[in-house]
Amino acid sequence: MSLTQLPAGAPATKVTMPALAEMKRQGKPISALTAYDYSTARLVDEAGIDLLLVGDSLAMVVLGHENTLAVTTDEMLHHTRAVRRAVRRALVVADMPFGSYHGTLAEGLANAVRFVKEAGAEAVKIEGARVELVRALTEAEIPVVGHLGLTPQSVHRMGGYRVQARTAEAMRQLRADARALARAGAGALVLEGIPREVAAAITAELEIPTIGIGAGPDCDGQILVFHDLVNLTFAPPAKFVRRYGDAAALLRSAIEHYREDVEHRAFPSDQESYHLPKSAFAAPAVDSDDADAVVNRDALQDFGEFSRP
Ligand code: KIV
Repeated sequence: MSLTQLPAGAPATKVTMPALAEMKRQGKPISALTAYDYSTARLVDEAGIDLLLVGDSLAMVVLGHENTLAVTTDEMLHHTRAVRRAVRRALVVADMPFGSYHGTLAEGLANAVRFVKEAGAEAVKIEGARVELVRALTEAEIPVVGHLGLTPQSVHRMGGYRVQARTAEAMRQLRADARALARAGAGALVLEGIPREVAAAITAELEIPTIGIGAGPDCDGQILVFHDLVNLTFAPPAKFVRRYGDAAALLRSAIEHYREDVEHRAFPSDQESYHLPKSAFAAPAVDSDDADAVVNRDALQDFGEFSRP
């Protein structure tokens, strides 16, 4: 059991899709990260990251699948709800998983509505040049983030995770797709795994912000997979990943230390144990004013004062 204290205090200024466009106009870089659960989403949000993507990369880094294809809409909804509960400031974008928008426009629309209505997503992300779907979602008041270049849901068509748009023709097509998505109403565009020069050209010609991952430094913003950032992926990182911390080492050491303490009976100590009240030695009733009558008195008091907008 663990008691989690919910975030208190005045609501921070909320990042919205129009706010991202304004950041582009002002030349202010957009920071983005993936998050998949309450605790990491809360840390990411409290660190001031502008956009949180509940990415379908969770299929790999959280659920242990080989690629992103297996994760279901219900699983994505479950994780999006957890993230949404944690976030006060960042824009929460939910990735629509493979199969959830590859059929009819009506199916894609119905699934996107679920992310907004059932999970609190503020935008959805879809991969590929699905211009008609972007138009339909925009007309249905659902902000859309497009995703072009290396689109992991196309892993089988691409023949692996390969850098895209490396020929003049592929570059021309990618630029045309980016313009078409923007015209259809996409509010932002993730550019993944493409040459820096291509990303720079697209960024310069679009009014909507581009958010790069493996697309060089000229995009309007950058996104990384949270588990890559903190070394929780159990694999050598891709060229574009910069590791900012080593959570694997930290967690391993904490877990091993705990195991050793248990094995040596060094945990828990007497101070970490509950004790019978003195009155128990006179009469068997539990004294409700006794400090050891509740599991965590401070946390209970804070729950009483907590309110969320
Ligand atoms: O699922 C994901 O994490 C993504 C990012 C890599 C952009 O789509």
